[in-house]
Order: sequence, then C-alpha cells, then structure tokens
Amino acid sequence: MNDIKAAITAVQGYVPDGILSNKDLEKLVDTNDEWITTRTGIKERRMLKEEGKATSDMGVEIVKGICEKTKISPEEIDMIIVGTITGDYNFPATANVICDKVGAKNAWGFDLSAACSGFIYGLTVGTQFIETGKYKKVVVIGLDYMSSIIDYSDRATCIIFGDGGGGVLLEPNSEGMGVLDSVMKSDGAGRHYLLQKTGGSLAPLTKENIDDGDQYVYQEGKTVFKYAVSNMADVSAEIMERNNLSSEDVDWLVPHQANLRIIDATAKRMGLPDEKVMINIQKYGNTTAGTIPLCLWEWEPKLKKGDNIVLSAFGGGFTWGAIYLKWAYNS
Ligand code: UT7
Repeated sequence: MNDIKAAITAVQGYVPDGILSNKDLEKLVDTNDEWITTRTGIKERRMLKEEGKATSDMGVEIVKGICEKTKISPEEIDMIIVGTITGDYNFPATANVICDKVGAKNAWGFDLSAACSGFIYGLTVGTQFIETGKYKKVVVIGLDYMSSIIDYSDRATCIIFGDGGGGVLLEPNSEGMGVLDSVMKSDGAGRHYLLQKTGGSLAPLTKENIDDGDQYVYQEGKTVFKYAVSNMADVSAEIMERNNLSSEDVDWLVPHQANLRIIDATAKRMGLPDEKVMINIQKYGNTTAGTIPLCLWEWEPKLKKGDNIVLSAFGGGFTWGAIYLKWAYNS
C-alpha cells in the first residue's frame, strides 16, 4: 500500500462581482422567480462582465490566492490542471495561459474537458502525480465562464448557469490524510443531451450555424436530470460501501450544484442530514466545473483535520464520479 497520499492543503475560490438574479432573468425570457426557485433552488448567479477578461483571469486569482495562503511562490508549482469547458481558446490550453500570467515558470499543465465533473476528474489525475512521488505541488482548478456560451434567450439553459470556480493545492501527506479513493465513470452515449453542437471538428463554425445559435449550450434538461439523479446517488453510495463508510462516518457531502433536487436525492441515498451537505446553488447557480471547489472554499473555515468528505458530480459527456478524502488541516 502506498503511504503517500495527495492532500488538499489550501483552497481558493473566485466569483466575479456581477450578479444576475431571477428577477433580471424575468426581463430576458418567459420565466419567473418562483419557477426557477422551486425547480432548481437557484436565486442568482455570477457573471463575468468585464471586457477582455476570460477564464484564465479568474484562474489567475485562484492561483494567486492559493500562493498567498500557503506562502509559496508560483515558481514552486509543479503542475496546473484546469477542468473547464470554457477555456480562453480551443487551443492553447487555459492552463498554459494561467501559468504564464502568474509566473508559474516551472509548471506544466493542461485543460481537462469533463464538464461538471471537471474538478473531480482533475483531482483524480492530480492525485496520481503526488502519490507516485513525482511532484510535490499540484494545483487542480475547476472553473467555467458559462455566460460566454449561453444563449440568454433560451430559458431552458440561461436560468441555470453562472461563472466562477476554485482550485486546490495538492501536496504529499504521510499521515493518511488526503484523497483515499475515487470512482470515475463516463458514458459518451449521453453526449446528445448536453453539448455545444458547433465549434468543434465535427461542425466547425460557419455563418449559417452561428445564425442557428448552435454555438450555445444545448440541454435536454429532463433527460439529463433523470440520469443525474440516479447516477450521482449510485456513485456516492458506491464510494461509501467500498470504504465501509456509514452515514455517521461521513462528515460532509460536497455535491455538484446543478439542481437542488439532484443534491437532495444524493444526500437522501447516502442517509445524510441537511447539515452535512454543502449547498450554495442559490447564490452561484451551476458553474459547471466550478461548483465543488467553490463549496470547499466557502466551507473551509468549518472543516477539521480528519473530516471524512465525499465529493460527487454528474455532468455533460456523460461524466460522473465520486471521491472520498480526509481533510488534512484546521483553518
Ligand atoms: O450540471 C450538469 C448536468 N445538468 C443537470 O444536472 C441539469 C438537469 N436538469 C434539470 O435540472 C432540470 O431538468 C431543469 C431545471 C433544466 C428543468 O426542470 P424540469 O423540472 O425538468 O422542467 P421541464 O424541462 O420538464 O419543464 C417543465 C415545464 C414545461 O412546461 P409544460 O410543458 O409542463 O407546460 C416547460 O416548458 O416548465 C416549463 N419551463 C419553464 N417555465 C418557466 C421550462 N423552463 C422554464 C423556465 N421558466 N425557465
């Protein structure tokens, strides 16, 4: 058994200042606050509105925050993994841009496309580099600029998504704290239900398809909901079983924030009371890869060394999974 674990030693979030409330959306599409609140749990979401700013600029704030908290220099970072579907460019990777902007001169990295599971996929990958002993400081970011790919005349999608995210620093731990297990899943047959239809190699952008609006997020909400509810709950129950965790043993569930009803179903399946479930969907909506690190950032002051934490997500791809970790520090 490998006794080096990958522990989270700092967490930093970032949300832009701009707020888009349900009332604001009532002016844009045929919807209302009551419908959005009861169907999703969302009251408002953040929007990056500054001209010329992109995902990397939010990522820079996250990396800077991590460096300030841990008093490390960006040059000490070995690797930066960015879970995102809204990178600055199709290529190069936003990880490269962030490294350049923060002066992480000795790091390499890449973007990881797993939609709402981007952070947990990234955390699973980053963990391997720490456990093998190859690296000492790996930054894993989950971050999206969803308003850059949303059609604000489509009420099926514009009410859900927001901008923002967060990141963690992973470092070796020999006290048994850190990522202890992960169950990652995917099913590409789900690609038809949640996707950006154009802008990739299958359908490069043309004047015609831009006029059709196919460059924006398309979602068949009902279908995605059905798969999300069962798969997120299943994988969360599976990681508990594999690790002999009872509901009493789990201190916190950190669920992807897509819909309050999906979160409630997962918590119920795990037998967890509301007090153990991190929920901030009402403030930020669904920031895709950003939701889980945003929760960890907000709850960081309450987390204690040794807490048993389950992270769980489901999203486009389909991609989904759960991670079991032991929190490594008191704030
Ligand atoms: O994050 C990654 C994965 N994504 C998810 O997990 C999202 C999963 N899906 C969902 O969260 C939900 O399906 C939505 C929130 C997107 C939609 O909620 P729903 O309860 O599935 O609504 P629906 O699409 O079945 O629509 C129900 C009714 C329809 O009207 P009729 O046909 O019953 O008359 C819709 O036309 O609500 C109507 N509707 C709306 N009404 C007001 C749909 N969108 C809206 C809206 N405002 N924004």
